[in-house]
Parts: sequence; C-alpha cells; structure tokens
Amino acid sequence: MKRFAIAVDGPAGSGKSTVAKAVARKLGIVYVDTGAMYRTVALHCIQEGISLADEAAVVASLDGLNMRIQPDTDGQKIFLNEEDVTAKIRTAEIGRGASDVGAYQKVRERMVEIQQKMAKELSVIMDGRDIGTVVLPEAEVKIYLDAGVEERARRRVGELEAKGETADFEEIKKLIIQRDYNDMNREHSPLKKADDAVVLDSTSMTVEEVQQAILDIVQERVKNV
Ligand code: DC
Repeated sequence: MKRFAIAVDGPAGSGKSTVAKAVARKLGIVYVDTGAMYRTVALHCIQEGISLADEAAVVASLDGLNMRIQPDTDGQKIFLNEEDVTAKIRTAEIGRGASDVGAYQKVRERMVEIQQKMAKELSVIMDGRDIGTVVLPEAEVKIYLDAGVEERARRRVGELEAKGETADFEEIKKLIIQRDYNDMNREHSPLKKADDAVVLDSTSMTVEEVQQAILDIVQERVKNV
C-alpha cells in the first residue's frame, strides 16, 4: 500500500490525541503526537533552569537535547536524553510552557524537520497545530478538530479527576482560553485551519463518531486502505 498521511490540527482539548490514537490502531499506522515534542523542549528548559521567555537561551538549549520518539501500541513514548518523559510532560504547567517555546521559529524548525522525516518513512496520523498548514501540506487527509471551550474544559477536568487529581473548572477553562490565544496569535505557524481541511466539531460527538468520520474521509481520499 502506498504511504499516506493524515494531519489533525485543532485547539487544546478538542480530542485530537484520543481520536488520532484510535484511528492509528484501526489503520495500523503510526501516531505522532507533535505536542509532546514541544512539551519535551519545555521540560528540558525548566529542568535546566532556563527561562522560557529567553528565546536565545531556549534555542541554545536545543543543542543539549536529545529527543527520541518511539511509536508504541498505546500511542507513542518520548525520551529526553534517554529518560522516558511520556508521563512527566502531561501537566498544565508543561502544556503552557510548550505553547511558549512553540512560538520560537528556531524551535519550530527543529521539530518540523523531525516530523517531516517520520512522515517520509511511514504512514502516519500526526496531530498538532500546524500539521496541515506547514508540516505536511501534501497530506492526503487533513482534519481540523474543534469543540466548544466549555466542553473542552469539562473533558480536561474529567481526565484530571480520573487520575485522582482535583481540578477547578473555571481555572481550567481560563488556561485553555489563554493557550488557544497564544497558539492562534503567534507570528510563526499559528494554529489555523488549512484551506483544504475538513472541519469536525466534536462538541456533541462521541470519540467513536469522530473516529468513524475520519475513517470515512480516509476511505474516500486514500485508495486501498
Ligand atoms: O497538543 P498539546 O496540548 O500537547 O500541545 C502543547 C503546546 O505545544 C500547544 O499549546 C502549542 C504547542 N504545539 C505547537 O506549537 N505545534 C504543534 N504542532 C503542537 C503543539
């Protein structure tokens, strides 16, 4: 079968990773979570005591950062200088930090290079903010997954509570709004729908419904899947 790519973009908490993982499993292709890469850069800087507001220092820190991505049955594992940081990067603080370092063009260039290399070698479903617009402009399928902010905040609260953590709905909602603003209004590769992306609004859809909608589009656009 010919190699193909599915690009999934959208704001924080729209359900991209859950759905992309499920589609990857169904199609037997690789899921690439690009947000995890920006999160890993942020974690590295925080661990090294580098201010995320210091662009030159953040960019310089990339030289001491060895990032390895390992596709896994449950999505992907990510290693920072050979330490598995997959779980460690899933905090609100690191999410916010990822949004900060993701505003720097030199950081983006490094990440995009790795992402494009992965898609050259394998069929992928890749999620992020600039996949359909910048990373994989030739992707066979492009999805822009959206959802209302109240629903996204509710899902985030549910995820945190499932992990046994307490979460304040209004606080989470505020953080989501801030992060979206940051991602949509930055100078380089802001989050936006690619002209040829299909918009799916998951506000009142189940994961299965979104998954099926994507599979239908793949079926239509990619021959012999
Ligand atoms: O998808 P996520 O929440 O793990 O992403 C964390 C942050 O990383 C997001 O707010 C912005 C940044 N990011 C980006 O700039 N480009 C991407 N392709 C993916 C994430």
